[in-house]
Amino acid sequence: MRAGERAAEAGGAPAAQAGGAPGAPGGEVLVELRGLKTHFFTDEGTVRAVDGVDLEIRRGRTLCVVGESGCGKSITARSILQLVEAPGRVVDGRILLRRGGADGGPGEVVDLAGLKPGGKEIRSVRGKDIAMIFQEPMTSLSLVHTVGNQMVEAIRVHNDVGKREARERAVELLGMVNIPNPGRLVDSYPFQFSGGMRQRVMIAMALSCDPGLLIADEPTTALDVTTQAQIMELLKRLQRELGMAIMFITHDMGVVAEMADDVAIMYLGKVVEKGPVDDIFHDPKHPYTRALLESIPKIGHRRRERLRSIKGIVPDPANRPAGCVFHTRCDAFMPGRCDATVPPPVALGPDRQVRCLLYGGDGGPAPGAPDAQTAAPEPTPESSHGD
Ligand SMILES: Nc1ncnc2c1ncn2[C@@H]1O[C@H](COP(=O)(O)OP(=O)(O)OP(=O)(O)O)[C@@H](O)[C@H]1O
Ligand SMILES: [Mg+2]
Repeated sequence: MRAGERAAEAGGAPAAQAGGAPGAPGGEVLVELRGLKTHFFTDEGTVRAVDGVDLEIRRGRTLCVVGESGCGKSITARSILQLVEAPGRVVDGRILLRRGGADGGPGEVVDLAGLKPGGKEIRSVRGKDIAMIFQEPMTSLSLVHTVGNQMVEAIRVHNDVGKREARERAVELLGMVNIPNPGRLVDSYPFQFSGGMRQRVMIAMALSCDPGLLIADEPTTALDVTTQAQIMELLKRLQRELGMAIMFITHDMGVVAEMADDVAIMYLGKVVEKGPVDDIFHDPKHPYTRALLESIPKIGHRRRERLRSIKGIVPDPANRPAGCVFHTRCDAFMPGRCDATVPPPVALGPDRQVRCLLYGGDGGPAPGAPDAQTAAPEPTPESSHGD
């Protein structure tokens, strides 16, 4: 399997076997984040949860956003839909949504960052242009209403249809997400469903208005491995059939290998590397990306070999390191440079970018100069488990 091979070969294999990513290659950009900053103003200080993020989500393709806990994945996603709760708010940047225009029409570009949170305009975007599903479906489903009634309500918010028609659509959608006997189960309550089935119901609800983008925030983390694989297959099939873009948030590089066309690696509120999935897996540039790839199990390794974890812990986002935010944990740390200069984005190709001084940006070595050894030396056993 192509994706399995990617995971198995991750961490330095030559790019010879890199296949083309599925989906529409080079699909038109549907949502574009430019310099997005979302900060939390707490009594202890300002938490720069999202600190200047640039991202592109393309029609018909899956962008996986990956990084350790607390790096700003969920807040980036919530910012897109203006769902950030106080004391947080979007303080800078643009969130450009391209509406219409897929069939050659003119279309329009809306800056979602400029819309009032809770206002009519952003509510019309939610569910209609962009839908979101979360890790734990029970936080979004009501316990006291049947699945069918909740779906009918969601469908009728955005579509001018009667109850009967909306119910028929609900049954159809439940069938699409492989709920058995949907005509009967439409009248069940969420607590009568298993975790995997509840997540399918959430996906069906998200699809009810045919969104151009589905944001899935760790939608399979709470599920067992088999159910997790089934949900990922389901999302891929629905994407093929409906042509929607998916922003898939995960901390698991194995999941990225299964799902992604494009990848953005986040660390402490910044995208440190992004590019097509095969480039990221076969030719990772940022030492953080390399470290994440080192932490996935590989086929063919001796069973008792320990997996590497990334040394150290993510610093407190209210107390960010100077210079490159990753320098405190980086195997390729260059004193006097990495702790002094914030790495600017360096373009490595049309859709490929890295923020790391190894590739230039402060008058240091030219782009592409370091080889794999100097860029990220193999961590020693001592350095790979602890501070
Ligand atoms: N209500 C809040 N008040 C203060 N800080 C917050 C609040 N919500 C989130 N943050 C901060 O924003 C940062 C990013 O959080 P976010 O939830 O986006 O992380 P994440 O990458 O989704 O992590 P995880 O993998 O654990 O879901 C975190 O460091 C967190 O401390
Ligand atoms: Mg999260």
